[in-house]
Amino acid sequence: MLIKRRQGWEAPGRDVTPEAAFFGRRAVMKGAGAIGGALGLGLSLSPALADEAPPPGIPAAAMRFKPGRALTAERVAETYNNFYEFSTDKDMWRLAQKFPQRPWSISFDGMVEKPFTIGIDDLLKQMQVEERVYRHRCVEAWGMTVPWSGFPLAKLVALAKPTSGAKFIAFTSDENPKVMPGLDGFMPWPYVEGLTLAEANNELAFIGTGLYGKPMPPQNGGPIRLITPWKYGFKSGKSIVKVSFLEKQPKTFWAELGPDEYGFWANVNPGVPHPRWSQAQERLIGTDQVVDTQIYNGYGEWVASLYAGMPQTRKLFM
Ligand code: MTE
Repeated sequence: MLIKRRQGWEAPGRDVTPEAAFFGRRAVMKGAGAIGGALGLGLSLSPALADEAPPPGIPAAAMRFKPGRALTAERVAETYNNFYEFSTDKDMWRLAQKFPQRPWSISFDGMVEKPFTIGIDDLLKQMQVEERVYRHRCVEAWGMTVPWSGFPLAKLVALAKPTSGAKFIAFTSDENPKVMPGLDGFMPWPYVEGLTLAEANNELAFIGTGLYGKPMPPQNGGPIRLITPWKYGFKSGKSIVKVSFLEKQPKTFWAELGPDEYGFWANVNPGVPHPRWSQAQERLIGTDQVVDTQIYNGYGEWVASLYAGMPQTRKLFM
């Protein structure tokens, strides 16, 4: 759903919705009563609710990619994170609170008509923000379901005006040693991830600037990150400062760090195990549920055609 344009991070119009209404009052009562403590409320809506109707506060259009699962509790999604620039610990969110989100600019370079840099607020003024509920599957065999807000990556590609030779796109994350204690000498910083231009223009590829009706928290990759729900989460670079258009496949952070375990393509596939663990199932964060993983994280309807002519080897799914 297209929503009214706003300044800044662009709240999708429900910033005053109480959390109880947002998640569904009954589910909150049930979740809080039954689970309490632990990480956040540990609440979980019934999968049927997510299938049949949008949870209160979520526009119906946000569900058009059929999440088929309950939303993950907001507090869980915001306190169980991977952001290695800060720490390899999942509770790095505390450290990230010192990460300045303004001023913030993003530069566009490589094979574009004219390289340029744009401030995040000027960029947001040019985009119509919408919401999308997506499943999010980490290569570590856990998953969550998140209501993101942002805009299609294809709109960012169009803004950049790549030249005809551009075949790939690379996203570089910020590298700020003043606030990121995890920037060690061992890993190949900065964090760079990439896609083919065809993947970037696929309607599922999304630029996230918010979640749960709020600005993107720094620990989730604020103020701007990539979201590619059919791929393992490590493809979704956080806190992006540079977008480069390239003729050749870029070197990416995880493929550099562990080429036998993490590849460029990283499409979700339950049939291709990670060398050290199975990918057949995933744990839904904030619940005690374990569910079967689906090929392309269940988004094959939208993305399988991207890989139709390619050898369907392990490489495509690691
Ligand atoms: N981006 C940067 N810059 N640094 C990271 O460590 N981790 C990735 C991805 N993007 C990562 C990153 C991994 S492994 C995952 S699963 C997702 O971010 C996690 O996103 P979330 O914390 O919002 O769930």
